[in-house]
Amino acid sequence: MWWIKNAQVVDPAQGLSGSYDVLIGEGKVLQLKKGLTEAEVKGECGEAEWQEIDAAGNYLFPGLIDVHTHLREPGREDKEDIASGSRAAVRGGFTTILAMPNTTPILDQKALVEYVVNQGKKVGLAKIHPIAAITKGQAGKELVEMVELAAAGAAGFSDDGRGVQQGEMMRLALEYAKLTSCPVISHCEDESLAHKGVMHRGIVSTRLGLRGIPSSSESVMVARDILLAEESGGKLHLAHISAKESVALIREGKKRGVDVTAEVNPHHLLFTDEAVARTPYGTSYKVNPPLRTEEDRQALLEGLLDGTLDMLATDHAPHTWEEKTNPFDEAPFGISGLETALAAVWQELVTTGILPVELLIKAWSMNPAQRFQLPGGTLKVGAPADLILFDPEHTELIDTEYLASKGKNTPFLGQRLQGFPSKVWVEGRLVHEI
Ligand code: DOR
Repeated sequence: MWWIKNAQVVDPAQGLSGSYDVLIGEGKVLQLKKGLTEAEVKGECGEAEWQEIDAAGNYLFPGLIDVHTHLREPGREDKEDIASGSRAAVRGGFTTILAMPNTTPILDQKALVEYVVNQGKKVGLAKIHPIAAITKGQAGKELVEMVELAAAGAAGFSDDGRGVQQGEMMRLALEYAKLTSCPVISHCEDESLAHKGVMHRGIVSTRLGLRGIPSSSESVMVARDILLAEESGGKLHLAHISAKESVALIREGKKRGVDVTAEVNPHHLLFTDEAVARTPYGTSYKVNPPLRTEEDRQALLEGLLDGTLDMLATDHAPHTWEEKTNPFDEAPFGISGLETALAAVWQELVTTGILPVELLIKAWSMNPAQRFQLPGGTLKVGAPADLILFDPEHTELIDTEYLASKGKNTPFLGQRLQGFPSKVWVEGRLVHEI
């Protein structure tokens, strides 16, 4: 049992923002109020012992929920495994993560979904929910057994890493997923338009002589999938939105009442394609969808602030050092994000007054919990004790030794970041502290 005193609690699900005492035990939040007394704590704890923390100057947030991670297990444990990814998650403040199915083999069968669920439990750090593929082998030809996979523990369906190219297949997916409570997650990319590009198509790609990926390769799919969700009444979630045109389409779709949510990744909010030009061979900035222009970045921020973009998500995509030191053209897409995402957003967007802390927690905890119907996302009495004590002043030098993730492919390597979780609990168990 833990008695956390004088913490700056931010819990948008209850509209709370202020100094409170919180008591956690038996895996749950037992009390949350101002000026909790010892008699009240004794009343809750009975014979059990408790530990006290004076949390003045620190925030207490519901544990963050990341709906977009790649843990690579099974099959590519050289990039990441469920143990290293779980450790990275809790160090970064994530108590629940959703793991994408583009593993080897692809998560398209019950036994594989169960494997990820069981490995996650065995490691026992962050709570891990697999996302199952939409189509067998992510080949875009045949739907998976959605009902069976949802029953096995899948929290959603996605062919992430590849877009579903055929409209009819996506329409079917949205229809069939209605038999479950899971959203269909679209990796919005029209491959004929993306045309094997390696960065955003614009002035910078022309200057560098690198093949470009136009914004339309994303926004055409965003438009298609919103229309299909509207027609089918299915539940659609759009992954890693990067282009201003996409934000406008989502805003309009929501106005019409389409059941669509969308996520944005920190790197698209913080960087533009200029970062690729500034850092020759800077493959740590090579990501899909690519970093786009300042205008896109501003549209994404506006979309996050007005609720068009519902969630933040890392798209944690660890790769080996060998792969990422290939020439820009050949290196794989992806940024390792779990351990730096919160600090980077804190430092660049919250302390600068751009993103209110309440919205940060809404977008990274409450909204993901609600959309994917996961326990957590709040510190209401009775909720699971998934929470983070956050030290806004703590700094860390991000180097290869610091990162618990096997993926060292982050643009923050060699930089000092500010704002880290100092204690992290999952169901009342302390799983990380600094
Ligand atoms: O940059 C990316 N990396 N984007 C994706 O969609 C897939 C991911 C990966 O699996 O590495």
